[in-house]
Amino acid sequence: MIPLSLARIAEITGGQLRGDPSAVVTGEVVIDSRRAGPGGLFAAVAGERSDGHDFAAAAVAAGAAGVLATRPVPVPSVLVADVPAALAALARFVVDALPAVRVAGITGSSGKTSTKDLAAQLVERLGPTIAPAGSFNNEFGLPLTVLRADAATRYLVLELSARGLGHIAYLCRIAPPRYGAVLNVGHAHAGEFGGLGQVARAKGELVEALPPGGVAILNADDPRVLAMASRTPARVVTFGCQVGALVRAADVRLDDLGRPSFTLLTPEGSARVALRLHGAHNVPNALAAAALAGELGLGLDGIADGLCAAVARSRWRMEVRQRGDGVTVINDAYNANPESVRAALDALAHLAQDGRGFAVLGHMAELGGSSRASHEEVGAYAARSGLAGLIAVGEEAAPLLAGARQVRSWRGEALAVPDGAAALEMLANLLKPGDVVLVKASRAARLEGVAADLLGEADR
Ligand SMILES: Nc1ncnc2c1ncn2[C@@H]1O[C@H](COP(=O)(O)OP(=O)(O)O)[C@@H](O)[C@H]1O
Ligand SMILES: [Mg+2]
Repeated sequence: MIPLSLARIAEITGGQLRGDPSAVVTGEVVIDSRRAGPGGLFAAVAGERSDGHDFAAAAVAAGAAGVLATRPVPVPSVLVADVPAALAALARFVVDALPAVRVAGITGSSGKTSTKDLAAQLVERLGPTIAPAGSFNNEFGLPLTVLRADAATRYLVLELSARGLGHIAYLCRIAPPRYGAVLNVGHAHAGEFGGLGQVARAKGELVEALPPGGVAILNADDPRVLAMASRTPARVVTFGCQVGALVRAADVRLDDLGRPSFTLLTPEGSARVALRLHGAHNVPNALAAAALAGELGLGLDGIADGLCAAVARSRWRMEVRQRGDGVTVINDAYNANPESVRAALDALAHLAQDGRGFAVLGHMAELGGSSRASHEEVGAYAARSGLAGLIAVGEEAAPLLAGARQVRSWRGEALAVPDGAAALEMLANLLKPGDVVLVKASRAARLEGVAADLLGEADR
């Protein structure tokens, strides 16, 4: 954070100062009071379960210089009408105050966080980089991330999410990107958007926001993404496995643990890359990261070395662990939509080539009218991938089983359980050395606890 007095913060946000105008914010801006630290600013937000205003005093006791609030609190504060709007104004002020910072945005239906983490690990080789932790990608997380930038920062690698039209355009006004990568157009939140056409409209807002001197990084393997080339004034750089993509992967192979290696082809030359991440879906993610880093000035060697060294920074995305008894657990429980479940099932099928594969799948949320059909299709996909067992957790996930049973050639078991505990009980009787279990569902299902229990870890 660049140091700002509470008085200045009040000016920037159009808020009302309560307390010491000379108090200066030098630390992180947070919305979780438990993370408030010395010199920080605590933004009080009323959530479903608790109201941040109740923790204003605790945040200041923990060292925060002040609080951003919508109603009076008994500590130094700036009163604003709307906290996200105030965070946006502050973040935009910081971006404008740091003209040397190059801003890159990443969006898409699946793979944003994985790609952002890969891209950050490449761009960090060029200079001080700020990128969000986990999925800080919305009207709260994006400004909070931007506010971590200071005079030393050279690159901002941001993740942009949308649940409707205009959301990405809004985030682009907070931190106008010069570089924008779109990964794919899929069914995540498709219910709220009203179909894939609308999802494409929304994701394309990122490249519409780029300036003429900017760079739009588009997935040549996804026709809806490639079509966004006509919506941007920026120069277009394509990535993918298609011949003709500017940044391309050829000879993709997966090792026993499903980790891809490939030949990276760029205008600069070619290099062999072996990822530490699991799943073939990380190939396009790596290509997008490579294209972005290349445009920012990282050479081919740096990109290839960086991709080979890059680790998973965010939890519960394709974490592959082996138990002492030889059972392998894939914890991909962060979130789920039809495309990402298929990607995970592909990885499971690969890991279970010589053994039995089990998928513990929960509900895929926010699919709207196509929800039932989507669950059936994914269930059928799971069955066709040759699973030994499909365990659907919760009533809403039951259509997965109906879809799987429609696949006549399938010899696996379709099992329904009410919750994670029941899934664990069932697995305890089923699993044998050499088996592989995938755990995946939408965030609301919180199935990561099942994966943790399978591994004998305490729930986190
Ligand atoms: N390029 C991709 N295409 C399809 N599925 C993907 C891709 N990248 C990741 N996934 C799947 O989506 C899950 C979530 O990945 P993540 O990077 O957190 O995406 P996002 O941030 O877009 O939600 C992963 O665990 C994996 O199952
Ligand atoms: Mg994410």
